[in-house]
Amino acid sequence: MAQRQSLETVAVAPDQEAHPPASETAKLFAESAKYMPGGTSRLHYYYQPYPIYAQSGRGCYLTDVEGVERIDYLNNMTALIHGHANPLINEAIVDQLQRGTAFSEPAEPELKLARLLVERVPSLEKIRFANSGTEAVMLAVKLARAYTGRSRIAKFEGFYHGYYDYVQVSYASQPDAWGPAHAPHSVASSGGLADSVESDVLTLPYNDREAVTRLLERHGHELAALLYDPLCNRSGFPLPQDDFLAFLREITRDYGIVLISDEVISFRVSYHGGAARYGGDPDLTVFGKIIGGGLPIGAVGGSAAIMALLDPTEGPPALASGGTYSGNPLSATAGCAALTQLPPEEFDRLEALGDDLRARANAAFADAGVAAQISGAGSLILVAPTDVPIVNYRSIPKDPAAAARMRGLHRGLMDAGVIVSKEGLGALSTPMGQREIDRFVAAAAQAAKAAAQAAQTVSRS
Ligand SMILES: Cc1ncc(COP(=O)(O)O)c(C=O)c1O
Repeated sequence: MAQRQSLETVAVAPDQEAHPPASETAKLFAESAKYMPGGTSRLHYYYQPYPIYAQSGRGCYLTDVEGVERIDYLNNMTALIHGHANPLINEAIVDQLQRGTAFSEPAEPELKLARLLVERVPSLEKIRFANSGTEAVMLAVKLARAYTGRSRIAKFEGFYHGYYDYVQVSYASQPDAWGPAHAPHSVASSGGLADSVESDVLTLPYNDREAVTRLLERHGHELAALLYDPLCNRSGFPLPQDDFLAFLREITRDYGIVLISDEVISFRVSYHGGAARYGGDPDLTVFGKIIGGGLPIGAVGGSAAIMALLDPTEGPPALASGGTYSGNPLSATAGCAALTQLPPEEFDRLEALGDDLRARANAAFADAGVAAQISGAGSLILVAPTDVPIVNYRSIPKDPAAAARMRGLHRGLMDAGVIVSKEGLGALSTPMGQREIDRFVAAAAQAAKAAAQAAQTVSRS
């Protein structure tokens, strides 16, 4: 096993330079590529020349296979709100492990997590578990269709909701195809989707009441669902402006559209979740990530009238849904152990740390003269390659200079010992304190220099 080194002893850990072809990292990547396309099971894992490989994690620190320790600001794409190897979650998992990992029968942990969420989230009356956010989004869309008897759905441009076919539309549109700002084109964001998907999905511009009003005047009566995220990372965490989410609630009610809040990531922003903080009062809410305490999970909850479509007690339900591992006792046990360690004061503490990080890192970017910012709220952060206020997906430039700046910022942060995704996503975890925030700010200043250099290289070429 590689010897553990801290970044305080290894001043920098540049991915490419410190991981030459003979390194353990390069070897693992080459070997993985023999068996898995691109050496990976997740698109997000990969970045050039190859990702770091995790050896182990403890608290908010992750050690890679070279023995280099970094602060983990990514936390399995924001899922690990308590960081790695949280003692109470581990204890609860081990206790459940001794009694079995999965059954064909319901077990009490599922009930405990259901009760906890229904009591905590104001818009929930009933909840149904799934195995991932993607699966839960799929179930929410099907519930909306079955409830309304309509087929088309609406979503916002630049909003990611997992990889169910009907939501893989216009989350990564590029300027040559995205159409007018007030009526964005629906563009497939992946291969492998049926041709009909683009016409089955209406794409809306976020934070634009006038455009949404006009588009729903034309299409509102055809729509089963309108899907939003109170704080969407792929669009740079734009905050809803002028009660935009209350407006969505009203207008969807007018047209009989089911309003779905995707809180797979944004549930983190408050004790009661994203809609409770920013508005919307959704009919259905989708969960994932932190509610599984580090194990796979997804869930849909909401109005009893809609959720009743899943109820088998009065005969075959209107909507058939299953899943060998849905309601799994291990995930539910870990989820309960994670959420019961999150009282409102802990959200406040994380938010204060997050505010400090955002303010000071942004000052460091401004000092370095780099067009970049840390956006987000609460424990969520996103490094974005722009210094203009972010209103929607199009606020973040998609040109080569911005892409180079983003690569420079990502590489700079990684080299300075801070893990964020290559798209700049990050999240605080409860083991973090002021020390980790200070280290992020110092890393951001270092990354700003790398980004400035990358931008110069692009402008010269
Ligand atoms: C907002 C949002 N919805 C849905 C999903 C899909 O969740 P999962 O990756 O668990 O399938 C994600 C994943 O990151 C997400 O960010």
